[in-house]
Amino acid sequence: MSRKIMVFDTTLRDGEQSPGCSMNTEEKVALARQLERMNVDVIEAGFPVASIGDFEAVKSVAEALDRTIVAGLSRAHEKDIHRCYEAVSHARRGRIHTFLATSDIHLEAKLKISRAEALERAVAAVKYARNLVDDVEFSLEDAGRTDWDYMCQVVEAVIHAGAGTVNLPDTVGYTIPTEFHEMISYVMNRVPNIDKAVISLHCHNDLGLGVANSLAGIQAGAGQVECTINGIGERAGNAAMEEIVMALKTRANYFQAHTDIVTEEITRTSKLLSSIIGVEVQPNKAIVGKNAFAHEAGIHQHGVLSDKRTYEIMTPESVGLAKNDLVLGKHSGRHAFKARLEELGYQLKPEILQTAFEKFKALADRKKEIFDEDLEHIATEGMKQVEE
Ligand code: KIV
Ligand code: ZN
Repeated sequence: MSRKIMVFDTTLRDGEQSPGCSMNTEEKVALARQLERMNVDVIEAGFPVASIGDFEAVKSVAEALDRTIVAGLSRAHEKDIHRCYEAVSHARRGRIHTFLATSDIHLEAKLKISRAEALERAVAAVKYARNLVDDVEFSLEDAGRTDWDYMCQVVEAVIHAGAGTVNLPDTVGYTIPTEFHEMISYVMNRVPNIDKAVISLHCHNDLGLGVANSLAGIQAGAGQVECTINGIGERAGNAAMEEIVMALKTRANYFQAHTDIVTEEITRTSKLLSSIIGVEVQPNKAIVGKNAFAHEAGIHQHGVLSDKRTYEIMTPESVGLAKNDLVLGKHSGRHAFKARLEELGYQLKPEILQTAFEKFKALADRKKEIFDEDLEHIATEGMKQVEE
């Protein structure tokens, strides 16, 4: 049986924390509406105590959405939690997401408190939040570098205090997939009240492993994944939502898990985010890059024209792209050339086609990309010579 994985989008909070990616309230509301259209389960809209602007943005997103859970982030302090509550209480379904670091390096160097004190603070924060709302998530910041037995103690205690979701972030993108799988399995198997909460993942991409770690954690039994559109986020970013969702969809039999994301909205959401923040994704970015569904090599183009499944593991339509993009260039073969000419309305006789194809190859050697106008020129030249 396929397990449902909840998608927690943090583009408006952790994503926005990446340099040059900040958004105003109006932009956050527009993106949140599109995320709701995509059917994400939770939208983390900001960090209400951080500024008046952030507070207003979380409140406005909370007011704008109909069905999605709207979360705000807060440190494990009463003042922060209360401010967060004031913002998310405007949502039909509001969540307080409170966090405290649990790794020794964070406890010693940043918070200057002992493990026992951190445990106490975590429990107090969850209890305080639970007096305000029913839906409380607790994150063990830097779980990826936290001692596993201590992690189990904290998870058990915050579930007992009323957290319905417990998040185990790889805050600094330090872990590797096999290790992360082991860590999540350890917690799932040792915490006695684990079935009372949803275990969540939140993986950063410092070693380029954010998506791989998220998928490994899902395999180990996590029920929620935290991610951002286009993978934006602190430093090297967060795990990219579109990659996780399409991996689960494309390899559904392998994972036996699914999300409820309307994948046909992926491209539109990615483009909306890029236009808001003014940051394009790299051309070869999986799923949403300009070249993600482009085939240039002749052998590949021939294969795709015969049967798309030869080189396409998912269809462009499934992510909301109209069709695949056969890019014509020096690696292209006769089949792709002929197919594009036919799309442009030119049915060339075999002899003319051969000469036209040779001209195309010669041009492609000189030019990086061949445009439709170039093809039309080659085709009409060929036809003229036959008439003369
Ligand atoms: O990366 C992280 O640990 C976070 C937490 C606040 C969830 O963003
Ligand atoms: Zn983060």
